[in-house]
Amino acid sequence: MVSLNMWTKDSLQELIKEKMTDYLFVVVSNRQPYIYKFKKGKIESLRGAGGVISALDPVMQACGGLWVANSGGDADRRVCDRKGKVGVPPNNPNYTLKWVWLTKEEEKGYYYGYSNEALWPLCHMAFHRPIFRKDDWEHYKTVNEKFARSIIEEIGNRKAFIWIQDYHLALLAKYLKRLAPKQLIVAQFWHIPWPSYETFRICPQRKEILEGLLSNDLLGFHIRYHCDNFLDAVDRELESKIDRERFMVTRAKQHTLIRPYPISIDFEGINHIAQSQEVKTIKKNLVQEFDLKKYRVLLGIDRIDYTKGIPERLLAIDRLLEKHPELKEKFVFLQMGQISRIHIPKYKQLNDEINALVEEINWKHSTDGWNPIILVRRHLSFKEVIAFYKLGELCVISSLHDGMNLVVKEFIAARRDKKAMLVLSQFTGAARELTDAVLINPYDREQTSDAIWKALNFTDDEKKKRITKMRQVIKHNNIYRWAGKVLSELLKFDFKE
Ligand code: F6P
Repeated sequence: MVSLNMWTKDSLQELIKEKMTDYLFVVVSNRQPYIYKFKKGKIESLRGAGGVISALDPVMQACGGLWVANSGGDADRRVCDRKGKVGVPPNNPNYTLKWVWLTKEEEKGYYYGYSNEALWPLCHMAFHRPIFRKDDWEHYKTVNEKFARSIIEEIGNRKAFIWIQDYHLALLAKYLKRLAPKQLIVAQFWHIPWPSYETFRICPQRKEILEGLLSNDLLGFHIRYHCDNFLDAVDRELESKIDRERFMVTRAKQHTLIRPYPISIDFEGINHIAQSQEVKTIKKNLVQEFDLKKYRVLLGIDRIDYTKGIPERLLAIDRLLEKHPELKEKFVFLQMGQISRIHIPKYKQLNDEINALVEEINWKHSTDGWNPIILVRRHLSFKEVIAFYKLGELCVISSLHDGMNLVVKEFIAARRDKKAMLVLSQFTGAARELTDAVLINPYDREQTSDAIWKALNFTDDEKKKRITKMRQVIKHNNIYRWAGKVLSELLKFDFKE
């Protein structure tokens, strides 16, 4: 039987085996779990970046099934069959990846446009105006429909559980239910924050977005606050019955449960990889490559995104050095920033801003041969990321707004040595669970630099005490628990006769 106390990979597998084997299990997201690219004439496979992949790849490896995603690698077509399918992970396939092929125009309108210039800034309070272009919305609808057709083509007459990921696919449940009203039980997880109604109401397509999401049987957010915001929006915009006791919306005979499920990571998996010889070797090479041996190392790890508060973090390092010049030549701040969504002007501007800021801060504080900040831009494999986590004694996460932030959870999981500390924005979902981190308001430069100073001065015992508690929290609230809870709820639904 499945233990409800401690979820593990095995207990999740058991749940699937006991209850789901007669049905097809489909995960759908925009981002693909594995990407195939040409490198020097050869095909190379990489694990996709970002929270959705870190969270769901281990779940799919445990459950098997089908993952449908947008193709993003120039060699994807070379490795798949005629239906666009390939077994993954590449070295040890145990689930199937199916690609949906988008045209350049569709990708521009649906992904760069409506998903990331309209919905992304709308949902994150980072003071960037959303842009709602009519053409982007048209592409968004077309692509959501395209995903629906691709999934139904796979399902045929079978019954299936579909689990949709994220804001790129807000209309998918509606199209799926239109095509196959009786065969499907559909859940969706919204990986980013859901804004307050005051913010949401500026969206010209707000009714269609809500209607789309209410075609799901189950709709999940990271925290209760986002569920409340969603219900407020439904209340103000649509005719429906809202049961606040049960967190359920009923509309045109469709019931939708709204639930908080704080997402997490594969704690044991990362803990294990972090101890491997391969990671130890990578770490050693990184210490050499960046000449870190003599210094205390502080870390920042993010996609380059304006919600992550990277300039704010760099300015806090600048302030730290102004207040504590004795720290010069004592530490380096290693900022890993994977380029992201670079075709969107705001991301390009941010990238330029970060380059200029690093240049300026390094110029201001540098001494012979020492610069306080090193910016690392290259793509990192998963194992390199884990090795990076092990390099630093302090990780600074200063998101201006973040649904969860899985980097912090991965960092903690990788630190079995317990000789590390975390400075964490109070505006991340993770801050609600990781209360033993040093919490900051990233908009407050003075407070952020003081928090870094404070964390740098913790005794080894203090660090150990705090990180031990954080590790316990993540070990318990791991990714299998997250997936297990969603799937257990899904299993309570009956297929329509
Ligand atoms: O939920 C947010 C998300 O979709 C996560 O997968 C990840 O943090 C990020 O956005 C990835 O963005 P993209 O797929 O656009 O690179």
